[in-house]
Amino acid sequence: MSAVVEAPRRLVVSGAGSGIGRAAAALARERGWSVLGLDLTGAEGIIACDITDEESVRRAFDRVDEAWGGAAPDAVVHCAGVYRFGPAVTTGAAAWDAVLAVNARGSLLVASAAARRMIDSGRGGSVTLLSSIAAARGDAGEPSAAYSASKGAVEALTRQLAVEWGPYGVRCNAVAPGVIDTPMTTVSGDPEAFEQVLRRIPARRLGTAEEVARVCLFLASGESAYVSGTVIAVDGGQSAS
Ligand SMILES: NC(=O)c1ccc[n+]([C@@H]2O[C@H](COP(=O)([O-])OP(=O)(O)OC[C@H]3O[C@@H](n4cnc5c(N)ncnc54)[C@H](O)[C@@H]3O)[C@@H](O)[C@H]2O)c1
Repeated sequence: MSAVVEAPRRLVVSGAGSGIGRAAAALARERGWSVLGLDLTGAEGIIACDITDEESVRRAFDRVDEAWGGAAPDAVVHCAGVYRFGPAVTTGAAAWDAVLAVNARGSLLVASAAARRMIDSGRGGSVTLLSSIAAARGDAGEPSAAYSASKGAVEALTRQLAVEWGPYGVRCNAVAPGVIDTPMTTVSGDPEAFEQVLRRIPARRLGTAEEVARVCLFLASGESAYVSGTVIAVDGGQSAS
């Protein structure tokens, strides 16, 4: 089975309406890749899709097939996600399920829809999921049991999919960002909390969406042809500290 082509001709980016997904889609287009986005709200180049809903994901990928004349995506960068925090003791079943539905179930549904096409094409491809530093570290400042658990699920899923789909030429990896300056990030509004967060980051600054997007595109491209089942931290050294 051949590895994914050097530059993917066709890339699906979920969460393309904001933050890291938007940056990944823009950077890939700059590089001449053909990009289709998925997000809750449709827009130019973005297909409306609720990634928690199997039927919605199926319809969105039907539209991907239409747009590319039935040709399979070469890569998917799955950035759609939600962040919620609050004490574990008051995190009820509904709050837990809502976060897990987007971050864990959504990752499986989007990755599988793309991988089915990559496998059927016989050409393989690359799936990149978004984890978080929260999968590996607890956070006393913003306790986020559901979010952390959802990202732990993403990392376990990454390894499982890499093993299941490897024989078909489909690689699966995850990127684990630290604190990135996007609309999802809550610390920027509170100067004191912001200072505390910066003290924990060896780089002493937040990352940018583009810095994460560049690593996602590395994983989406043939530059990483022999990389699968791994998690790359993009966190200014935070996970090493
Ligand atoms: N920003 C950070 O500091 C940070 C840190 C670690 C991990 N991450 C992860 O990176 C990914 C991207 O985060 P971001 O900072 O770009 O966030 P963001 O909030 O800027 O963008 C997330 C996008 O996902 C979309 N989305 C949410 N629920 C959806 C659903 N059900 N169906 C379809 N789309 C949906 C939103 O509409 C939004 O456009 C997420 O998985 C997030 O957990 C971000």
